[in-house]
Amino acid sequence: MRVLIVGGGGREHALAWKFKHDDPETEVIAAPGNPGIAELGECVSISATDLESLARLATDRSVDLTVVGPEAPLAAGIVDRFRADGLAIFGPTRAAAEIETSKAFAKRLMLEDGIPTARAEVHTNVASARACAHRLGAPVVIKASGLAAGKGVIVCQTLDEADRAIDDILAGNRFGDAGAEVLVEEFMTGEELSVFALTDGQSFLLLPGLQDHKRLHDKDMGPNTGGMGAYVPVTLASTDHSVSGAADPSDSLYVAIAEQVIHPTLRGLARRGRPFTGLLYAGLMLTADGPKVVEFNCRFGDPETQALMPVLDLKPSLLELMRLAASDRGFAGPVVTGLIRSAAPVGVGPDGFDAHVSLSGACVTTVLAAENYPDKPRTGDPIDLPPIADDGVVVFHAGTARDSEHRLVTAGGRVLAVSAVAPDIETAQQHSLAFARRIHFPGCQLRTDIAWREIARRGR
Ligand code: AMP
Ligand code: GLY
Repeated sequence: MRVLIVGGGGREHALAWKFKHDDPETEVIAAPGNPGIAELGECVSISATDLESLARLATDRSVDLTVVGPEAPLAAGIVDRFRADGLAIFGPTRAAAEIETSKAFAKRLMLEDGIPTARAEVHTNVASARACAHRLGAPVVIKASGLAAGKGVIVCQTLDEADRAIDDILAGNRFGDAGAEVLVEEFMTGEELSVFALTDGQSFLLLPGLQDHKRLHDKDMGPNTGGMGAYVPVTLASTDHSVSGAADPSDSLYVAIAEQVIHPTLRGLARRGRPFTGLLYAGLMLTADGPKVVEFNCRFGDPETQALMPVLDLKPSLLELMRLAASDRGFAGPVVTGLIRSAAPVGVGPDGFDAHVSLSGACVTTVLAAENYPDKPRTGDPIDLPPIADDGVVVFHAGTARDSEHRLVTAGGRVLAVSAVAPDIETAQQHSLAFARRIHFPGCQLRTDIAWREIARRGR
């Protein structure tokens, strides 16, 4: 199978690695890709949002399936554009991607359809937004509705902070058009869990949940980032499950997530004429009242994907599931089936559809970020990347490039991610950190405590 991966970050490198790992015959083309992906396939210098050039590339190279990594091309309508040419592509249409690109749309859908989430109101006017924040009381969360590169969420400890955040977003135009609407949202407490659902729009399969570490410094201190590390498994819930036409409920948390969150969200999107095909990412807060949605994303998480791919066992393979999801008949394709089951644990599949998901170990991913990240990162620094001697370690490239002399240099905020697989999470953390510390570039920033929550839980 020839697959085109759109994007050039660590998540896309991890997907390319997984496709090649599962089937070395898979041909990978990436646009624009990065120096790590270039070791697995061909990188073509086309931007991830240049839809016309990407569609031409897929046609000219007879690509069997295109897989989209980042949200920007999905928000720009890459799936609609490819489908117009009859090209197979894994990802949601522009209208379905609004579940991520418009927090106002996502919140309305959840509130209308009874999907558990924080209480919130959408406002376009400073006075009414402030009044709402004062009604809810501090702490309160203020969010720009549109895409804001992960920076549009402000958790406010006081009402003064909330007033300032509202002013900044609505009146100060801090996020441009993305801040034309704000959400004023109740503050929730609990463990966070990222859960991915692979879906053809009706049926879906839940992948094992992960936790990422958004703050720059150890012990979850410092500014928010795109993610400084991630790990799996999260033993709030077991992670081995099968789904078939007749799956057994085996894990109550996953059952609750499937039944209360994923299934009604997919149904709600379909009912609104926006069926969602691709990867639906639910960012959840596990509150005392059960799982509640913090946000949805319309694509794989980054860096969660770098932690999940090295240990994810899927049957059929990930690429095969993606191909089926993107095909006209979805997961029902290979076996002509009757009704899609209306509800089932950990996934909903047509009769005769049999999928299995499990983990082959624990994985911890430590991100190495450039100096001055998450503000304007410094780039162009030479990277000293030693050869990998340990079988369980994979290094994924994100913000790297080759200079005119073919040396590896920094080229973005998050530079590399070191994923280490081991039978247990403690060993995975040690191996990930030990190898990360052997990589050098000026100003490198990394956390030394990825997975600390899991390790603390297991110590209790
Ligand atoms: P988001 O970009 O929506 O994922 O939000 C970024 C982070 O802000 C989340 O991972 C949470 O840690 C926090 N957050 C967002 N919404 C809430 C909320 N309603 N209550 C508490 N924390 C929140
Ligand atoms: N790691 C969070 C995200 O991908 O949005």
